[in-house]
Amino acid sequence: TEKAEVSRGLENVYIKATSLTYIDGERGILRYRGYDINDLANNATYEEVVHLMLYGELPNSEQLKRVKDVLNSSYEVPEDVLRVMEVLPKDSEPVALMEAGLAALATHEKEFKWKERDREKALEIIGKVSTITANVYRVKQGLTPRVPSPGESYAKSFLEATFSKSFTSQESSMMDKFLVLYADHEVPASTTAALVTASTLSDMYSCMVSAITALKGPLHGGAMEAAFRQFKEIGDPSKVDDWFERTIVKGGNRLMGFGHRVYRTYDPRGKIFKSMAEVAAQGEARKYLEIAEKLETLGVKHFESKKIYPNTDFYAGILMYGLGFPDFMFTPLFALSRTLGWLAHVVEYVDEQHRLIRPRALYVGPGKREFVPLNQRK
Ligand code: CMC
Repeated sequence: TEKAEVSRGLENVYIKATSLTYIDGERGILRYRGYDINDLANNATYEEVVHLMLYGELPNSEQLKRVKDVLNSSYEVPEDVLRVMEVLPKDSEPVALMEAGLAALATHEKEFKWKERDREKALEIIGKVSTITANVYRVKQGLTPRVPSPGESYAKSFLEATFSKSFTSQESSMMDKFLVLYADHEVPASTTAALVTASTLSDMYSCMVSAITALKGPLHGGAMEAAFRQFKEIGDPSKVDDWFERTIVKGGNRLMGFGHRVYRTYDPRGKIFKSMAEVAAQGEARKYLEIAEKLETLGVKHFESKKIYPNTDFYAGILMYGLGFPDFMFTPLFALSRTLGWLAHVVEYVDEQHRLIRPRALYVGPGKREFVPLNQRK
């Protein structure tokens, strides 16, 4: 053990093999099962990506219909799940509310067994997470709970349940692309947390709760909201230079929505979100886009030597804000999309390479000491 070294933050530690997601951090490439993220964002729906990740291939139309049928029939949750969420304080932390919904759902899963309908189970959970996420918004706004209606598109059913109004196909397509872009990203902290839980052969809902609690922090999923709050704090494009100088250059604060453990260049998802926001952002969202673009230019220049670039969370919030979501919903939205990645990874792990995850801690405390009875201690 004397030779053991701690890898701080588990940097460059491989905890599993995967056929799900490939990241080339130097070149800014992201692929799901070999397909470039740009191709998927432009051409595939979330349901197609769900099939790709869980079953290994893009679906044919029959397989796609099956995925949609299972999702559509999984939106219903036991009534007490929504009641639990409803009785919690309206000013609850939104991610905590989502955790409560998932934990309530877990109470209905009494005899979970792995390797029995794993992928089917994952699909059902993806359906139910739509209901829970929509109701995080509804509960916080004091609206009565609502279950997504079965329909043609998971994204559209989710939007309509959340806001109880109809959305155009262009709007639902934005939501759909958001879901595709956030669906998986190899093994960030949240997925690692899910894997640790899965490795003990706990159940899938518990994996979800582990993942979402890890997602919440501002260094991970909370970054989308934190980045957007910076744009709000700046308030006007004319104030960007001054803010950057004061807060980042002199203040030494982190620029949220910038930097990544793996990418040493632009995050390809960030680029896609930026171009989507350029097309779609109007009104207030347009103003935040202008602020973000100015901030990006300053940030990229300032952090050039450290290779810190905008990540996916930098522009994504602007798009979601444009669709009508307040910023407190950004992390729940991330979780909604990432449910697929979390579950695809735990299923891959348990099915193909399961072993208890049990790392070591390098002991650096004192050597053996004589025990001193209480009355003799100073
Ligand atoms: N602003 C200013 N400095 C930064 C930033 C940033 N956003 N990111 C990294 N650095 C600096 C950091 O201060 C350190 O400098 P030095 O070596 O001089 O002390 C150096 O870069 C390395 O930082 P680190 O924290 O050791 O690097 P990491 O690989 O642990 O960081 C990170 C990854 C994502 C935690 C970090 O870049 C960060 O805090 N970014 C802001 C939060 C954020 O946007 N998170 C979203 C991550 S991507 C998607 C997601 O998970 O949602």
